Amino acid sequence: MSKFFALIPAAGSGARMGNELPKQYLSLNNRPMIYHAISTLCQNQYITRVFVILAPNDNEWFKHDWLEFSEKLVVFSCGGLTRADSVLNGLTAAKQKDLVDTDDWILVHDAARPCLTSTQLDKLISELAIDNVGGLLAIPVADTLKRSNTENRVSHTESRENLWQAQTPQMFRYDLLTRALRNATSINVTDDASAVEALGFHPKLVPGDAYNFKVTYPQDLALAELIIQKRNNP
Ligand code: C5P
Repeated sequence: MSKFFALIPAAGSGARMGNELPKQYLSLNNRPMIYHAISTLCQNQYITRVFVILAPNDNEWFKHDWLEFSEKLVVFSCGGLTRADSVLNGLTAAKQKDLVDTDDWILVHDAARPCLTSTQLDKLISELAIDNVGGLLAIPVADTLKRSNTENRVSHTESRENLWQAQTPQMFRYDLLTRALRNATSINVTDDASAVEALGFHPKLVPGDAYNFKVTYPQDLALAELIIQKRNNP
């Protein structure tokens, strides 16, 4: 039987947040932001272990107490220059430690998506566990999309038909994901699915919800805090 593993690449600097502290450590409801994703993933009954991939020079992680997750949490300090490098290095490290098999499922999740819920996670796993390719949580684009020219004027309006916003987790078997990421070193991939697509596969889009947004700009942090506070005190 294939197992399910989560992998959180957390070696980014979060430059767009304009903060010296990498964004995964910014305080969210009195915890570092990454705590919330780790907590949801560790609590999931299907997930065997949660791998966190840190930048080699990360000192911040060790300032926090992660003991409550010790049953499932495995930390590797082997993050790379890009997100794809960090994921691939983490997969290689997990294999070297003999923790995963090639046909196991890997759910890659951004540290900066703290509002993932167990419901979404269960839905992703149940819809993809018998899929031949794998897939990702995503939401259909709601806004009208404008393409700009170099002067920030509208060049034209893009059709939003069949357009989705990719989220994470993105779930693929170890074998396919490592093959895809190795192949992707020369192309610019910003998520795991695009690396898989570059091999000619068609990942499945599993409808998620808008709460699972990525904290990218300072105002996103306040919104994420409101959502988590509301969940903790319904
Ligand atoms: O910068 P962005 O928000 O796209 O990063 C998405 C995820 O990838 C974050 O969890 C970030 O820490 C991670 N990342 C990484 N290694 C990098 C760049 C980003 O693990 N070199």
